[in-house]
Amino acid sequence: MPSRLTVLDFPRLKAEKRPIVCVTAYDYTMARLLDEAGVDMLLVGDSLGMVVQGHDTTLPVTLDQMIYHTQAVVRGSEKAFVACDLPFGLCHRSSDVVLEAAIRVIKESGAQAVKVEGGVPVAQTIQALTTRHIPVLGHVGLTPQSVHAFGGFKVQGRGAAADRVLADAVAIEEAGAFAVVLEGIPARLSEKISARLTIPTIGIGAGPGCDGQVLVVYDLLGLYDGVKPRFVKRYMDGSVLVRQAVGHFAEEVRNGSFPGEEHSFSE
Ligand code: KIV
Repeated sequence: MPSRLTVLDFPRLKAEKRPIVCVTAYDYTMARLLDEAGVDMLLVGDSLGMVVQGHDTTLPVTLDQMIYHTQAVVRGSEKAFVACDLPFGLCHRSSDVVLEAAIRVIKESGAQAVKVEGGVPVAQTIQALTTRHIPVLGHVGLTPQSVHAFGGFKVQGRGAAADRVLADAVAIEEAGAFAVVLEGIPARLSEKISARLTIPTIGIGAGPGCDGQVLVVYDLLGLYDGVKPRFVKRYMDGSVLVRQAVGHFAEEVRNGSFPGEEHSFSE
């Protein structure tokens, strides 16, 4: 049985200048495909609140839901490292509450790490996890759980605000995170942060200067055809293909050509 990537592989990939490939996953079947495609990390992101559950934000997602989806992703994968987002509302509370939640994630889902959104204000909380050997993936910049504070999904770290994002990333590294997601910040800033940090940076809407890239799988496959942010590249027209395939099925059911003999059982 092949073994999974571990936290030790990510600094090595950065040192070897081999870009880290990360994709979100939420279920068994997709996790299997992504794992077979050779991604390094499967992130069970709370973006599932938007692309799976149909909410406008990630805020309604619960810890139980994150654990449920992560269990399926772990079952579907063999090689990729699996990280699970801690949902909105936990890191507003005491480190003990977050620790309790992270322990549940690791124990019940089989994930190897939790992802925590936020910078300086959550650094102590991250430290409470990492000093107890719970690996943490940080996430700074346009952190979707702060959507209301940001007044929408808006690029962060422009102009004078760049220093704050840099300070956040440094605080996350100092708190012991093994890697950090940089989301929705100018490309020059993520280049600077990636050069400054010893841990790898994984970008989404942060330009090419990061040590790796992550995309939401439904965006990458063109299955989510709502708003397409500038940073999304669709590698296939998934929604067109699905409509075509299901339209074809509907036509065959209606004209009686499905199921054929080959799909039917003899006596
Ligand atoms: O929730 C998520 O999927 C994420 C990634 C897009 C980084 O946080």
